[in-house]
Amino acid sequence: MKFFIDTANLDQIREAHDLGILDGVTTNPSLMAKEGITGAEAVLKHYVDICNIVDGDVSAEVISTDFKGMVEEGEKLAALHENIVVKVPMIKDGIKAIAHFTNQGIRTNCTLVFSPGQAILAAKAGATYLSPFIGRLDDINWDGMELIKQIAEIYAVQGYETQILAASVRNPLHIVKAAQFGADVVTCPLNAILGLLNHPLTDIGLAQFLADHAKANK
Ligand code: G3P
Repeated sequence: MKFFIDTANLDQIREAHDLGILDGVTTNPSLMAKEGITGAEAVLKHYVDICNIVDGDVSAEVISTDFKGMVEEGEKLAALHENIVVKVPMIKDGIKAIAHFTNQGIRTNCTLVFSPGQAILAAKAGATYLSPFIGRLDDINWDGMELIKQIAEIYAVQGYETQILAASVRNPLHIVKAAQFGADVVTCPLNAILGLLNHPLTDIGLAQFLADHAKANK
């Protein structure tokens, strides 16, 4: 399973990259706004800055919601860097745009996916990645992980090549379950990635090893 970081924060992207386990980055308009990146030129420059840190796929989301607008924006984004993946919302014109980009050889990430039916449409359109939002489903008392399981089963049965990119990940357990249920990629905030490190027995064991070593070597 590939690890992407879900942020537009350059320091966090660098920190995850320095761990040596980072395969890519996903952003969305909310994450860009959170970093204070506003205005078309600044947004484009920020995507290039991200691509210069991580040698892996970087999802850049279109703002338009009509076919023509999405195509124009997506082509501009894709031309920025070979690692850019155009992120397109799961709406009717979004599916048309994904099919168009697929024909043009432009890679896509279909976002805001909450049902298996949406996942089938995106795969038919040739999306490179599909982003089911686990945490937002859990937030409304639906089972986000069940969706990952269902999509993984459907894609395996049908032989779809679209990669399942588990998104809206909130904690380390989401990462573990996404891996267990067949996600190809997980995109998560830095704290969820770092949370995978933690176990009290590791801390206790290390303290013991160091204490024993110090005692034996004084
Ligand atoms: O990038 C899309 C997704 O990961 C958003 O996550 O936490 O805002 O639901 P969240």
